[in-house]
Amino acid sequence: MLTLWRNARIATCDEQSRVFERGAVLVRDGVIEWVGAEAELPAGLRPDRAVELAGRWLTPGLIDCHTHLVFAGQRATEFARRTAGTSYADIAREGGGILSTVRATRAATEDELVEQSRPRLVSLLAEGVTTVEIKSGYGLELESEVRMLRAARRLAAEHPVTVSTSLLAAHALPPEFAGRADEYIEVVSREWLPALRASCDAVDAYCEDIAFSAAQCGRLFGAARALGLPVRLHAEQLSNVGGSQVAARHGAFSCDHLEYATDADAAALARAGTVAVMLPVAFYVLAEQRLPPIEAFRRHGVPLAVASDCNPGSAPGASLLLAMNMARRLFGLTSEEVLLGVTRHAARALGLASRRGSVAAGHAADFAAWSIDSLDELGYWTGFNPCSMVVKDGSIVLERNV
Ligand code: NIG
Ligand code: FE
Repeated sequence: MLTLWRNARIATCDEQSRVFERGAVLVRDGVIEWVGAEAELPAGLRPDRAVELAGRWLTPGLIDCHTHLVFAGQRATEFARRTAGTSYADIAREGGGILSTVRATRAATEDELVEQSRPRLVSLLAEGVTTVEIKSGYGLELESEVRMLRAARRLAAEHPVTVSTSLLAAHALPPEFAGRADEYIEVVSREWLPALRASCDAVDAYCEDIAFSAAQCGRLFGAARALGLPVRLHAEQLSNVGGSQVAARHGAFSCDHLEYATDADAAALARAGTVAVMLPVAFYVLAEQRLPPIEAFRRHGVPLAVASDCNPGSAPGASLLLAMNMARRLFGLTSEEVLLGVTRHAARALGLASRRGSVAAGHAADFAAWSIDSLDELGYWTGFNPCSMVVKDGSIVLERNV
């Protein structure tokens, strides 16, 4: 089956960031065969089907490379306390925060997790998202972590989306291990990782003064890599305890948050080829003041991604478009940086860059079409979604009147 997508303005987000003002894409069996100016279409083609895009902008399907989308319950009461002045870290130290969602998630069945998480996924998909990373990390016991990962893969099977899962057992110290963080890391490394190897695509951890130390994350990463699992890290969100350096040393796919990262951290990430994932919704919701060192990332050539961080604590909601807007307004990213941050660089953060994240020959035909006049409108609208069509592996999976 050969489909011609024609009369589109195309932002390929490929290595050269090519743009075609009157472009076309040829897709065979869900895979892009050719992209270019319509005037240069190979001669003698006989497509089985042609889709007329009437001058609409076409981008790669968006990639949300950092979410905690599967969880039970909500933490609105904590939000009320935080807006009244109590800090996220203080609530965490009292046993609230992540541990409060752990209690709700442990009590939920797999079906309940799927049904509670589905609307959040659906909300992302309506924004042109075709690939989503989903973490565990609210189970913190083997069976509950497995249940979260299964719920994530079930959502993937039931919706037109590629899901990449990360095991985030090192998100917080479970109450059963209070005061025994080293032991917990040891159990996760020695017992859980081998058992869960096939249930996840990567291993993540939370490196922070209120969570795990750089040394603990380093030991976990050593075990993960010995099993062939790639790693990513939450680091330098509220403090700098050396997370970026550990991530870089282990060749992490990504290092995420990074408000407290230094110039030396940026240099290390650049050398390691690690993507820096910006999570401006968490920055906004926690009313943080310290900005990530964007200038240093640019100077050292660190690829930047942008993600929603969808979670019940620091980023309640499920909008990548909002994260894009905040990355521009709060972090000063350009519209080009933000677009690459939710396409090519986000694919790289998930280790999927050879197949997704660009409109390029050999890539899956994941597209989003937009009712916009200019690419600058991506990350411009707040609380408004200009996505008019979503294409997953060559099939139209959503059309919206906008
Ligand atoms: O990315 N920082 C740790 N993890 C999440 C927050 C999780 C939560 O508060 O439930 C984050 O911001
Ligand atoms: Fe997170």
